[in-house]
Amino acid sequence: MDAEVQENAYKASDLVAQDIDAYLEQHQHKSLLRFITCGSVDDGKSTLIGRLLYDSKLIFEDQLAALEADSKRMGTQGQNIDFALLVDGLAAEREQGITIDVAYRFFATDKRKFIVADTPGHEQYTRNMVTGASTADLAVILIDARKGVLTQTRRHSYLVRLIGIRHVVLAVNKMDLIGYDQARYNAIVENYRQFAASIGIETFLSIPLSGLAGDNIASRSANTPWYAGPTLIEHLETVELDVVADQAKPFTMPVQWVNRPNLDFRGFSGLIATGVARVGDAVRVVPSGKTSTLSRIVTLDGDLPEAVAGQSVTLCLADEIDCSRGDVLAKADAPPQVADQFEATLVWMADEPLLPGRPYWLKLGTQTVTANVQPPKYQVNVNSLEHVAAKTLELNAIGVVNLSTDRNIAFEPYEANRDLGGFILIDKLTNATVAAGMLHFALRRSQNIHPQALDVTREGHAALKNQTPAVLWFTGLSGAGKSTIANLVEKKLHRMNRHTFLLDGDNVRHGLNKDLGFTDTDRVENIRRVGEVAKLMTDAGLIVITAFISPFRAERQMVRDMMAPGEFLEVFIDTPLAEAERRDVKGLYKKARAGQLKHFTGIDSPYEPPEHPEIHIDTTGMTPEAAADLIVDKLVSAL
Ligand code: ADX
Repeated sequence: MDAEVQENAYKASDLVAQDIDAYLEQHQHKSLLRFITCGSVDDGKSTLIGRLLYDSKLIFEDQLAALEADSKRMGTQGQNIDFALLVDGLAAEREQGITIDVAYRFFATDKRKFIVADTPGHEQYTRNMVTGASTADLAVILIDARKGVLTQTRRHSYLVRLIGIRHVVLAVNKMDLIGYDQARYNAIVENYRQFAASIGIETFLSIPLSGLAGDNIASRSANTPWYAGPTLIEHLETVELDVVADQAKPFTMPVQWVNRPNLDFRGFSGLIATGVARVGDAVRVVPSGKTSTLSRIVTLDGDLPEAVAGQSVTLCLADEIDCSRGDVLAKADAPPQVADQFEATLVWMADEPLLPGRPYWLKLGTQTVTANVQPPKYQVNVNSLEHVAAKTLELNAIGVVNLSTDRNIAFEPYEANRDLGGFILIDKLTNATVAAGMLHFALRRSQNIHPQALDVTREGHAALKNQTPAVLWFTGLSGAGKSTIANLVEKKLHRMNRHTFLLDGDNVRHGLNKDLGFTDTDRVENIRRVGEVAKLMTDAGLIVITAFISPFRAERQMVRDMMAPGEFLEVFIDTPLAEAERRDVKGLYKKARAGQLKHFTGIDSPYEPPEHPEIHIDTTGMTPEAAADLIVDKLVSAL
């Protein structure tokens, strides 16, 4: 490469690094197809992708430059990019990038531009495949013609179906290695057809091809005169895009933000997910249900009379009705559903397993709410597709669960609408995405249970007791002194004529929570239930004192969020592990050290100390009496 070419190549790659849209801009007039290739290196995936890039002749300059540089390094004259080297380069890149989620490659033909998501095919990369598939219009499922339908073919197909990819291509690869045998090809296709039907893939296009020899990729192969269908590239160039199919559905647009530069203008900006919006159309704000009329459709290029799925617009309404980020604007007489309890499929993507009962952020479209997931109904074995019992979901596991959200959300079943039925779960403390999910349907009970307005309010209860309700939430290691100090605190408050109730771990675990043990999952559920009980008790006007290890920040935060602002006081009974173990009041540390007690907090189960407790008691520096005095003082001054 001479200096000038190299400079241009760098420019191109900088361009990509900064802005993939700029590349897309270059091919602006063309439609864009996103697809995913499913298969492993053995199936010839890199070769096939290499062939697509090579034959399309319009490889994205950046990749060409990189590959040419590679071929130089390897001592080859890189005048014309060599096909074998291209494939080697892709395979090597893939290996290096294996821990990165997905490798996206760009290419274009005269008719269309393409983004292909290349993900590793092994089971341990299920989450990568789900990520790559989540935006795909089409999936190419690769089969090695010598081997036929394998376990991995079934797994990939199941995931493709799960993600709801509408177009499936069965690429029967390496036809050259079976002498372009039509009968063997037909047998593979028939075998696959039966399996596909069993998981709900009704149609697919099968193509006999060879990535290495180039048969039926860009041009019809003379080796398969019996094949009358399109080449792979022809098919990719003409298959219907999701966005086109989406335009036929009723209008929906999740509101991304509200645009209000001045009092005269209020617009709702977002990407139209489905359907067509026309000025004058009756629209409904979901979940609230308020209706109005579309008065303007504003874009950077001026006002439009109508806009369709896939366009980013700002919509104005004729009336000043409530509508904010997270709401969905929809066709007035065909709005999405509204609910707060669902059945859903989850694909678990985090190293930390699912903790049923733990609050996660659930992000669906532009809505973000808190969600609680119940223990899985079952997990799907992605190889055999059998349903198996599971208490949790680990990395790459797929399961069906019930979940509830803390408020109503607008949704559609994922099958009908990927935008309004697909969601992710996010860990509230680390902000990591832990799962991808698909809503199946709303649980009927959620539609039939409505909060009942009661005439005697929580304020009424509290007023009669002449006090302000509160929760003193003790946390600390086993043997830290929580129960002892909590008991003294309650006695003092009682003497002060306060109406109190003490919920103590060892007692509650004999009754309400006697079905729970000490796994992480059970501890989360323990605290969730205690939180709910404490909440009811504050509604009844009580000052509640709780004494539970409550080892996890997330659940302590969850309980805090359940209470009225200022009502929750976290009391950290801070006794170092060595000291608690030295006291060993119940002899449990000894047992745990001897291996007779599993999952013991501080030994083989974690304790996450509070970061900002309202009250911090260092038990090595004060007596239980003094600690109790301090806590009562703090409580009285807080109320
Ligand atoms: S929590 O972690 O779920 O909040 P909780 O406070 O209800 O625990 O119960 C802790 C009490 O159970 C301890 O004080 C101890 O007496 C008893 N216990 C029995 N097994 C364990 C264990 N594996 N880890 C901690 N505490 C245990």
